[in-house]
Amino acid sequence: MVGDMEKGHSLKRSLGPVSLTALGVGAIIGTGIFVLVGKAAANQAGPAIILSFVVAGLACVFAALCYAEFASMAPVAGSAYNYAYATLGELMAWIIGWDLILEYAVASSTVAHGWSKYLQKLLQQFGITLFDKGGALHLFSEAPFDYNSARDAANVTLASGQTLNVAAGSFFANGYWFDLPAILITAIVTAILVRGVTESAFTNAIMVSIKVSVVLFVIVAGIWYVNPENWTKDFAPYGYGGITFFGSPLEIFGGTDKGMMAGAAGVIFAYLGFDAVSTQAEEAKNPKRDLPIGIIGSLLICTVLYIAVSAVLTGMVNYKEIDINAPVASAFEKVGFTSAQFIVTVGAIAGITSVLLVMMMGQPRIFLAMARDGLLPYSFFGAIHPKFQTPYKSTILTGVIVASAASLLPLSILADLTNIGTLFAFALVCASVLILRYTDPDRVRPFRCPLSPVFPSLGIILCVLLMLSLPSENWLRLVIWLFVGLVIYFAYGFWHSKLKPSAA
Ligand code: ALA
Repeated sequence: MVGDMEKGHSLKRSLGPVSLTALGVGAIIGTGIFVLVGKAAANQAGPAIILSFVVAGLACVFAALCYAEFASMAPVAGSAYNYAYATLGELMAWIIGWDLILEYAVASSTVAHGWSKYLQKLLQQFGITLFDKGGALHLFSEAPFDYNSARDAANVTLASGQTLNVAAGSFFANGYWFDLPAILITAIVTAILVRGVTESAFTNAIMVSIKVSVVLFVIVAGIWYVNPENWTKDFAPYGYGGITFFGSPLEIFGGTDKGMMAGAAGVIFAYLGFDAVSTQAEEAKNPKRDLPIGIIGSLLICTVLYIAVSAVLTGMVNYKEIDINAPVASAFEKVGFTSAQFIVTVGAIAGITSVLLVMMMGQPRIFLAMARDGLLPYSFFGAIHPKFQTPYKSTILTGVIVASAASLLPLSILADLTNIGTLFAFALVCASVLILRYTDPDRVRPFRCPLSPVFPSLGIILCVLLMLSLPSENWLRLVIWLFVGLVIYFAYGFWHSKLKPSAA
């Protein structure tokens, strides 16, 4: 792999350990902590959401240690795809590469969706009602249909203001056309990425500074408003379980689909992105040392921040009163510190933009790795811009896919698909580390996952438990997605693979 990469077009090596850690933090802190934490705390875990963040963080730490071992051994673009290729063979590599589209492109769509919501919130704070009801662009503020994932029928408000009763588990047209701000931000990020990684890393550094400052502001300012009774009175109102088996709650885990573990599955999205560091392997100056630092460092920083933010949030506001749309901003409003709402909104926009930047930077690099192995057309996915040295064609294609999904598909579906796809990828990476330790024990490993086989096994167990804690329809969607991927593999990749004797 490394030999192939050195023979082919190499990307520009410009990133050191600080830039890589910043890229990791840039990919991690975003929609999860600014938006999704509210729903998980209010409806799934209560103040025990603090423990949900610990459990979800732990699953990611095990996966991150495995990623770091691989990233130090095979510092080439492509991330989990390459690790599977080296250990589990081409078919499994294709499956994981196809699955990673969920983690990168579909996550980017989720994030662009969240960005649109916060932009609309910011405009409202300036009295601009362009996207609000009665505004000129109201019909262009939302995806055209949505999904009721609840177990009961629900009343929803349509674009026209009318109310519609929607049955449980069904789709409905909501009267909107498409989400225009989501398309705009995707187009801007795509243009920045085509220009080049140095500029992108610089832009990212500014955004990361803003959002980390805002997160620290939330913790330091919010701590003065904490009422400890909010934690002590009813710490785990839904219990500590919430694990289901394809929709049926398991008795040994509390016999309910709510609880601390269900909360952990709901907030796993907040941690996604640390592995994006490994997709930058070819742009790292000293990948064997700096990739593990970037992956583990960024994850640990975010874990500490998330635990602190969720503690402050559930301490400031009773879990029953947490706003599920803009939980952090609204918490300050509730305690009477209204100017903080503006600071948090700006921080969220900066945070979400940098997530988009790193996620959309990762996807073309995974396509590039797949194209190098002949599984995708190299002339398109392997094309590097002569001046900017970026994989520009696949970056633009990624932009088109992300903009289409973000502007047309509902947020909840995109978020859950991302979660299940990513957990699946994490579990496979942990499994790959175990397999390679067994099949190739003597290979040089500049970084070793400690306590193997215990840590990688715990990673697999935790990821599968969290997958089981997601609503069951996501399994079906994952299977359909993987099936479509297999059809494409047998129609193209199988015949063009570099492993075929004719190709060799
Ligand atoms: N972790 C990223 C976010 O929360 C994907 O937006």
